[in-house]
Amino acid sequence: MFVLFKVAQNIAVFTWDVGLSVINLVTPNRREGHVTPEGYPGFGGQWPEYVPPSEGDSRCCCPGLNSMANHGIISRDGKNIQFKDLNPLIQSTFNFSPSFSYFTCNYAAQLLGKSYTKDTFDLAEINLHNGIEHDASLCREDTALEPDQGKPHERYIRDLLESATGNDKDGNPLLVAKDISKSLSKRRVESRSNNKDFTLDFSHRTFGSSNSSTFLTIFGGRVKDLETILLEERLPEGWESRVLQRKGLTLTTFNLTTVPRVSLGISEKKYLAEKATADAAKPVAGDNATTPTSSINGADPTSN
Ligand code: HEM
Repeated sequence: MFVLFKVAQNIAVFTWDVGLSVINLVTPNRREGHVTPEGYPGFGGQWPEYVPPSEGDSRCCCPGLNSMANHGIISRDGKNIQFKDLNPLIQSTFNFSPSFSYFTCNYAAQLLGKSYTKDTFDLAEINLHNGIEHDASLCREDTALEPDQGKPHERYIRDLLESATGNDKDGNPLLVAKDISKSLSKRRVESRSNNKDFTLDFSHRTFGSSNSSTFLTIFGGRVKDLETILLEERLPEGWESRVLQRKGLTLTTFNLTTVPRVSLGISEKKYLAEKATADAAKPVAGDNATTPTSSINGADPTSN
Protein backbone atom coordinates (compact mmCIF):
# COMPACT_ATOMS: atom_id res chain seq x y z
CA MET A 1 0.00 0.00 0.00
CA PHE A 2 2.82 2.39 1.02
CA VAL A 3 4.67 1.61 -2.23
CA LEU A 4 1.55 2.47 -4.24
CA PHE A 5 1.20 5.74 -2.33
CA LYS A 6 4.84 6.61 -3.09
CA VAL A 7 4.40 5.85 -6.79
CA ALA A 8 1.24 8.00 -6.94
CA GLN A 9 3.00 10.80 -5.03
CA ASN A 10 5.96 10.76 -7.43
CA ILE A 11 3.65 10.80 -10.47
CA ALA A 12 1.83 13.80 -8.98
CA VAL A 13 5.09 15.67 -8.27
CA PHE A 14 6.52 15.00 -11.75
CA THR A 15 3.26 16.06 -13.42
CA TRP A 16 3.27 19.27 -11.38
CA ASP A 17 6.94 19.79 -12.33
CA VAL A 18 6.25 19.36 -16.06
CA GLY A 19 3.42 21.89 -15.72
CA LEU A 20 5.75 24.41 -14.06
CA SER A 21 8.36 23.81 -16.81
CA VAL A 22 5.74 24.65 -19.44
CA ILE A 23 4.78 27.82 -17.52
CA ASN A 24 8.47 28.78 -17.49
CA LEU A 25 8.58 28.41 -21.27
CA VAL A 26 5.63 30.73 -21.89
CA THR A 27 6.16 33.40 -19.20
CA PRO A 28 8.85 36.08 -19.05
CA ASN A 29 11.84 35.46 -16.80
CA ARG A 30 12.33 37.29 -13.53
CA ARG A 31 14.38 40.45 -13.95
CA GLU A 32 18.02 40.31 -12.89
CA GLY A 33 18.29 41.96 -9.48
CA HIS A 34 14.72 40.87 -8.64
CA VAL A 35 15.05 37.09 -8.38
CA THR A 36 14.65 36.75 -4.60
CA PRO A 37 11.01 37.56 -3.78
CA GLU A 38 10.01 40.48 -1.58
CA GLY A 39 9.42 39.54 2.05
CA TYR A 40 12.05 36.78 2.01
CA PRO A 41 15.66 36.86 3.25
CA GLY A 42 17.97 38.07 0.49
CA PHE A 43 15.43 40.39 -1.15
CA GLY A 44 17.36 43.14 -2.93
CA GLY A 45 20.62 41.21 -2.36
CA GLN A 46 20.49 41.88 1.42
CA TRP A 47 21.26 38.57 3.12
CA PRO A 48 20.87 38.29 6.90
CA GLU A 49 24.12 38.50 8.85
CA TYR A 50 26.62 35.70 8.21
CA VAL A 51 27.87 33.96 11.34
CA PRO A 52 30.16 30.95 10.85
CA PRO A 53 29.19 27.84 12.82
CA SER A 54 30.46 27.48 16.37
CA GLU A 55 31.13 24.49 18.62
CA GLY A 56 28.02 22.35 19.01
CA ASP A 57 26.26 23.62 15.86
CA SER A 58 25.00 20.99 13.46
CA ARG A 59 26.35 21.15 9.90
CA CYS A 60 26.30 18.78 6.94
CA CYS A 61 27.87 17.85 3.63
CA CYS A 62 25.61 20.26 1.70
CA PRO A 63 27.00 23.76 1.11
CA GLY A 64 23.50 25.02 0.17
CA LEU A 65 21.90 24.03 3.50
CA ASN A 66 24.93 25.09 5.57
CA SER A 67 24.87 28.55 3.94
CA MET A 68 21.21 28.91 4.89
CA ALA A 69 22.08 28.12 8.53
CA ASN A 70 25.11 30.44 8.52
CA HIS A 71 22.83 33.32 7.46
CA GLY A 72 20.05 32.39 9.88
CA ILE A 73 17.62 31.63 7.02
CA ILE A 74 17.08 28.33 8.86
CA SER A 75 18.06 27.85 12.51
CA ARG A 76 21.64 29.03 13.03
CA ASP A 77 22.55 25.98 15.10
CA GLY A 78 21.32 23.75 12.24
CA LYS A 79 18.99 21.86 14.58
CA ASN A 80 15.25 21.10 14.75
CA ILE A 81 14.55 22.14 11.17
CA GLN A 82 11.03 21.37 9.93
CA PHE A 83 11.08 19.79 6.45
CA LYS A 84 7.92 21.71 5.54
CA ASP A 85 9.47 25.05 6.64
CA LEU A 86 12.69 24.37 4.74
CA ASN A 87 10.86 23.82 1.44
CA PRO A 88 9.67 27.43 0.77
CA LEU A 89 12.98 28.85 2.02
CA ILE A 90 14.94 26.76 -0.51
CA GLN A 91 12.65 28.16 -3.21
CA SER A 92 13.09 31.79 -2.17
CA THR A 93 16.84 31.57 -1.48
CA PHE A 94 17.97 29.65 -4.58
CA ASN A 95 14.99 29.83 -6.96
CA PHE A 96 14.32 26.11 -7.08
CA SER A 97 10.79 25.37 -8.33
CA PRO A 98 8.26 24.38 -5.64
CA SER A 99 8.10 20.87 -7.14
CA PHE A 100 11.91 20.39 -7.05
CA SER A 101 12.20 21.79 -3.54
CA TYR A 102 9.28 19.72 -2.23
CA PHE A 103 10.67 16.58 -3.88
CA THR A 104 14.10 17.05 -2.27
CA CYS A 105 12.78 17.84 1.21
CA ASN A 106 10.30 14.96 1.07
CA TYR A 107 13.04 12.60 -0.23
CA ALA A 108 15.28 13.61 2.69
CA ALA A 109 12.43 13.04 5.17
CA GLN A 110 11.73 9.56 3.76
CA LEU A 111 15.42 8.70 3.76
CA LEU A 112 15.62 9.53 7.46
CA GLY A 113 12.39 7.61 8.19
CA LYS A 114 10.61 10.84 9.17
CA SER A 115 7.37 12.62 8.33
CA TYR A 116 7.66 15.60 5.94
CA THR A 117 4.71 17.36 7.56
CA LYS A 118 5.38 16.71 11.25
CA ASP A 119 9.05 16.00 11.88
CA THR A 120 12.24 18.00 12.27
CA PHE A 121 15.88 17.13 11.59
CA ASP A 122 19.37 18.37 12.42
CA LEU A 123 21.63 19.13 9.46
CA ALA A 124 24.16 16.48 10.51
CA GLU A 125 21.53 13.78 9.94
CA ILE A 126 21.83 14.48 6.20
CA ASN A 127 25.41 13.13 6.43
CA LEU A 128 24.05 9.58 6.45
CA HIS A 129 26.65 7.79 4.32
CA ASN A 130 25.28 6.43 1.06
CA GLY A 131 21.94 8.07 1.79
CA ILE A 132 22.32 11.10 -0.45
CA GLU A 133 25.89 11.67 0.81
CA HIS A 134 28.43 9.64 -1.13
CA ASP A 135 32.13 9.17 -1.82
CA ALA A 136 34.11 11.21 -4.36
CA SER A 137 32.33 14.53 -3.76
CA LEU A 138 33.76 17.78 -5.03
CA CYS A 139 33.59 19.64 -1.71
CA ARG A 140 34.12 16.99 0.95
CA GLU A 141 36.63 14.27 1.83
CA ASP A 142 35.10 10.77 1.86
CA THR A 143 33.36 9.83 5.11
CA ALA A 144 35.79 6.96 5.80
CA LEU A 145 38.67 9.48 5.75
CA GLU A 146 36.84 12.44 7.37
CA PRO A 147 33.85 11.54 9.53
CA ASP A 148 32.97 15.25 10.03
CA GLN A 149 31.12 15.94 6.79
CA GLY A 150 30.25 19.48 7.93
CA LYS A 151 33.70 20.73 6.92
CA PRO A 152 34.48 22.05 3.43
CA HIS A 153 37.61 20.43 1.97
CA GLU A 154 39.70 23.39 0.87
CA ARG A 155 42.02 21.60 -1.57
CA TYR A 156 39.22 19.85 -3.44
CA ILE A 157 37.28 23.10 -3.70
CA ARG A 158 40.32 25.07 -4.90
CA ASP A 159 41.14 22.31 -7.44
CA LEU A 160 37.57 22.53 -8.72
CA LEU A 161 37.61 26.31 -9.03
CA GLU A 162 41.06 26.34 -10.65
CA SER A 163 39.80 23.91 -13.27
CA ALA A 164 37.47 26.57 -14.74
CA THR A 165 37.98 26.99 -18.49
CA GLY A 166 35.09 29.36 -19.27
CA ASN A 167 34.86 33.16 -19.09
CA ASP A 168 31.94 35.56 -18.83
CA LYS A 169 31.67 38.63 -21.07
CA ASP A 170 33.90 40.60 -18.67
CA GLY A 171 36.58 37.91 -18.69
CA ASN A 172 35.78 36.52 -15.22
CA PRO A 173 36.38 32.77 -14.86
CA LEU A 174 33.40 30.44 -15.21
CA LEU A 175 33.04 26.74 -14.55
CA VAL A 176 31.45 24.99 -17.52
CA ALA A 177 29.97 21.48 -17.77
CA LYS A 178 33.17 19.82 -19.01
CA ASP A 179 35.10 21.25 -16.02
CA ILE A 180 32.64 19.69 -13.60
CA SER A 181 32.75 16.36 -15.45
CA LYS A 182 36.55 16.34 -15.36
CA SER A 183 36.64 17.24 -11.65
CA LEU A 184 34.17 14.45 -10.86
CA SER A 185 36.27 12.00 -12.89
CA LYS A 186 39.40 13.08 -11.01
CA ARG A 187 37.74 12.78 -7.60
CA ARG A 188 36.52 9.27 -8.45
CA VAL A 189 40.01 8.20 -9.46
CA GLU A 190 41.48 9.72 -6.28
CA SER A 191 38.87 8.22 -3.97
CA ARG A 192 39.11 4.80 -5.57
CA SER A 193 42.82 4.92 -4.86
CA ASN A 194 42.89 6.54 -1.40
CA ASN A 195 39.81 5.14 0.28
CA LYS A 196 39.79 1.39 0.85
CA ASP A 197 36.06 1.60 1.66
CA PHE A 198 35.24 3.45 -1.59
CA THR A 199 31.78 2.81 -3.04
CA LEU A 200 29.77 4.67 -5.68
CA ASP A 201 26.74 2.91 -7.10
CA PHE A 202 24.56 4.18 -9.92
CA SER A 203 22.22 6.21 -7.72
CA HIS A 204 25.12 7.93 -5.94
CA ARG A 205 26.85 8.69 -9.24
CA THR A 206 23.56 10.32 -10.23
CA PHE A 207 23.40 12.34 -6.99
CA GLY A 208 27.01 13.40 -7.62
CA SER A 209 26.22 14.73 -11.12
CA SER A 210 23.01 16.30 -9.96
CA ASN A 211 24.34 18.12 -6.86
CA SER A 212 27.34 19.43 -8.75
CA SER A 213 25.18 20.56 -11.68
CA THR A 214 23.78 23.22 -9.33
CA PHE A 215 27.20 24.91 -9.64
CA LEU A 216 26.21 25.68 -13.23
CA THR A 217 22.51 26.48 -12.79
CA ILE A 218 21.90 28.14 -9.41
CA PHE A 219 25.41 29.59 -9.19
CA GLY A 220 25.91 30.23 -12.92
CA GLY A 221 29.42 28.69 -12.78
CA ARG A 222 30.77 31.98 -11.39
CA VAL A 223 34.08 31.14 -9.75
CA LYS A 224 34.23 34.30 -7.65
CA ASP A 225 30.81 33.60 -6.05
CA LEU A 226 31.55 29.89 -5.65
CA GLU A 227 34.79 30.62 -3.82
CA THR A 228 32.79 32.38 -1.07
CA ILE A 229 29.86 29.97 -1.14
CA LEU A 230 31.90 26.77 -1.05
CA LEU A 231 34.81 27.77 1.19
CA GLU A 232 32.96 29.96 3.71
CA GLU A 233 29.44 28.64 3.06
CA ARG A 234 28.36 32.26 2.81
CA LEU A 235 26.17 33.99 0.22
CA PRO A 236 28.11 36.99 -1.13
CA GLU A 237 26.55 40.41 -0.56
CA GLY A 238 24.18 41.23 -3.40
CA TRP A 239 24.10 37.59 -4.54
CA GLU A 240 20.98 36.11 -6.11
CA SER A 241 20.23 32.85 -7.86
CA ARG A 242 21.30 32.77 -11.52
CA VAL A 243 18.12 30.86 -12.36
CA LEU A 244 15.78 33.50 -13.71
CA GLN A 245 12.80 31.34 -14.68
CA ARG A 246 9.54 32.55 -13.18
CA LYS A 247 8.71 29.23 -11.48
CA GLY A 248 12.32 28.40 -10.67
CA LEU A 249 14.54 25.49 -11.63
CA THR A 250 12.37 22.45 -12.30
CA LEU A 251 13.40 18.80 -12.06
CA THR A 252 12.40 18.39 -15.70
CA THR A 253 14.58 21.21 -17.05
CA PHE A 254 17.51 20.31 -14.79
CA ASN A 255 17.44 16.62 -15.66
CA LEU A 256 16.98 17.18 -19.40
CA THR A 257 19.66 19.85 -19.80
CA THR A 258 22.49 20.39 -17.29
CA VAL A 259 22.64 17.02 -15.51
CA PRO A 260 23.10 14.90 -18.68
CA ARG A 261 25.77 17.30 -20.01
CA VAL A 262 27.74 16.80 -16.80
CA SER A 263 27.06 13.04 -16.47
CA LEU A 264 27.90 12.14 -20.04
CA GLY A 265 31.27 13.91 -19.79
CA ILE A 266 32.47 11.90 -16.79
CA SER A 267 35.14 9.38 -17.69
CA GLU A 268 37.76 8.07 -15.30
CA LYS A 269 39.42 6.33 -18.24
CA LYS A 270 39.77 9.61 -20.16
CA TYR A 271 41.03 11.42 -17.05
CA LEU A 272 43.68 8.73 -16.49
CA ALA A 273 44.76 8.83 -20.14
CA GLU A 274 45.10 12.64 -20.08
CA LYS A 275 47.00 12.48 -16.84
CA ALA A 276 49.38 9.83 -18.21
CA THR A 277 50.06 12.01 -21.26
CA ALA A 278 50.66 15.08 -19.07
CA ASP A 279 52.95 13.11 -16.72
CA ALA A 280 54.92 11.70 -19.67
CA ALA A 281 55.51 15.24 -20.95
CA LYS A 282 57.06 16.33 -17.63
CA PRO A 283 60.90 16.67 -17.66
CA VAL A 284 61.33 14.16 -14.80
CA ALA A 285 58.68 11.53 -15.27
CA GLY A 286 57.10 9.76 -12.34
CA ASP A 287 57.67 12.27 -9.53
CA ASN A 288 55.01 14.47 -7.86
CA ALA A 289 52.25 12.17 -9.01
CA THR A 290 49.25 12.63 -6.74
CA THR A 291 46.78 10.35 -8.47
CA PRO A 292 47.29 6.81 -9.70
CA THR A 293 47.37 5.67 -13.29
CA SER A 294 45.49 2.49 -12.49
CA SER A 295 42.69 1.72 -10.11
CA ILE A 296 42.83 -0.32 -6.94
CA ASN A 297 40.14 -2.00 -4.84
CA GLY A 298 39.40 -4.24 -7.81
CA ALA A 299 37.02 -1.66 -9.23
CA ASP A 300 37.05 -0.91 -12.92
CA PRO A 301 37.47 2.79 -13.65
CA THR A 302 36.54 2.27 -17.27
CA SER A 303 32.97 1.44 -16.33
CA ASN A 304 31.88 5.08 -16.08
C1 HEM B 1 16.46 19.27 1.51
C2 HEM B 1 17.32 19.80 0.68
C3 HEM B 1 18.69 19.26 0.42
C4 HEM B 1 19.25 18.07 0.78
C5 HEM B 1 18.61 16.93 1.53
C6 HEM B 1 20.61 18.07 0.29
C7 HEM B 1 21.52 17.06 0.48
C8 HEM B 1 22.83 17.08 0.04
C9 HEM B 1 23.80 16.08 0.35
C10 HEM B 1 23.56 14.84 1.20
C11 HEM B 1 24.95 16.45 -0.26
C12 HEM B 1 26.29 15.71 -0.24
C13 HEM B 1 26.45 14.87 -1.47
C14 HEM B 1 27.87 14.38 -1.56
O1 HEM B 1 28.24 13.49 -0.81
O2 HEM B 1 28.61 14.93 -2.37
C15 HEM B 1 24.72 17.67 -0.94
C16 HEM B 1 25.67 18.34 -1.69
C17 HEM B 1 25.44 19.50 -2.35
N1 HEM B 1 24.27 20.21 -2.34
FE1 HEM B 1 22.60 19.80 -1.28
N2 HEM B 1 20.85 19.24 -0.37
C18 HEM B 1 19.72 20.00 -0.30
C19 HEM B 1 19.56 21.27 -0.79
C20 HEM B 1 20.50 21.94 -1.53
C21 HEM B 1 20.33 23.29 -2.00
C22 HEM B 1 19.13 24.17 -1.72
C23 HEM B 1 21.43 23.59 -2.72
C24 HEM B 1 21.67 24.90 -3.37
C25 HEM B 1 22.16 25.03 -4.56
C26 HEM B 1 22.32 22.44 -2.69
C27 HEM B 1 23.54 22.32 -3.32
C28 HEM B 1 24.46 21.33 -3.09
C29 HEM B 1 25.82 21.34 -3.61
C30 HEM B 1 26.44 22.41 -4.48
C31 HEM B 1 26.44 20.18 -3.15
C32 HEM B 1 27.90 19.77 -3.32
C33 HEM B 1 28.17 18.72 -4.35
C34 HEM B 1 29.58 18.18 -4.27
O3 HEM B 1 30.31 18.38 -3.31
O4 HEM B 1 29.97 17.49 -5.22
N3 HEM B 1 21.70 21.45 -1.97
N4 HEM B 1 23.41 18.07 -0.75
